[in-house]
Amino acid sequence: MTGARPTGTAEVPTLHGPGSPSLECRDLLVRLTGATGAVDILKGVDLTIAAGEFVSVLGASGTGKTTLLRVLGGLTPSTDGAVLAGGVPVSGPPDGVVTVFQDYTNSLLPWRTVRRNVALGVEDGLSKEECTRRVDDALEMVGLTASAQEYPFRLSGGMQQRVQIARALAMRPSVLLMDEPFGALDAMTKASLQDQLQRVQSLTGTAVVFVTHDVEEAVYLSDRVVVLSGRPAGIGLTLDVDLPRPRDQIGTKETPEYLDLRHRVYAALGHEVAR
Ligand SMILES: Nc1ncnc2c1ncn2[C@@H]1O[C@H](COP(=O)(O)OP(=O)(O)OP(=O)(O)O)[C@@H](O)[C@H]1O
Ligand SMILES: [Mg+2]
Repeated sequence: MTGARPTGTAEVPTLHGPGSPSLECRDLLVRLTGATGAVDILKGVDLTIAAGEFVSVLGASGTGKTTLLRVLGGLTPSTDGAVLAGGVPVSGPPDGVVTVFQDYTNSLLPWRTVRRNVALGVEDGLSKEECTRRVDDALEMVGLTASAQEYPFRLSGGMQQRVQIARALAMRPSVLLMDEPFGALDAMTKASLQDQLQRVQSLTGTAVVFVTHDVEEAVYLSDRVVVLSGRPAGIGLTLDVDLPRPRDQIGTKETPEYLDLRHRVYAALGHEVAR
């Protein structure tokens, strides 16, 4: 895959350039109450997502990645510290911040066609023409124009996940929060969706916060990789990824720079790998 605009891709202007609102948390504390009482899950987390930036969040299972994403998306309240979207304190899902979950099967409405699933977030409040235009653009960006009239059960897992992503894109988010969006997909489908996401992001300028367990995926896609560690979890490692874009599944992954970054992320996660 190259980063050149492929033929047939919707002409979508850059939506969110430098200076548009970013998402940030400062000295974040999140305390959740489980069966054994209140537990601090995240503590002292400072994270700023700049406009158009791609940031991956890694960490062992149960560290608090989903919790961080939910707090940034206004779905879980913080206990202390500040969570700001465009400089404004978050108290519920902020405008322009859209979450995509791993479990696409439960997020699509089976009685709606692909087109009507994608329209879900934009059909109220926009004119019919604008809604149609946004849905068409989003379907084209994820390569699902030909499947617009299908129902979700007739689609593969990768296609269903693309419907969910198209639904988010139709809302023209300034920040996409993605929780292991490709976690349930096979390696080939995953690689293809990574490249589609890379292309869509370069077209739209949407910032992405991407939770994953896949170190290769994180380094390949990101401008910055953040590793959560400890209990309560804080940011154990922040790594800038300056690999040139567009990235390529084969070429990029063979460069010494990529291999070095991959090594450092694995090490931060507690694994040693051969260089
Ligand atoms: N609603 C809740 N009430 C109490 N504790 C919770 C709640 N949600 C999550 N937790 C706890 O918070 C911790 C972090 O959970 P979280 O789901 O954020 O982890 P994660 O890093 O996303 O894990 P995974 O990689 O397995 O998805 C876990 O110990 C979990 O048990
Ligand atoms: Mg999780």
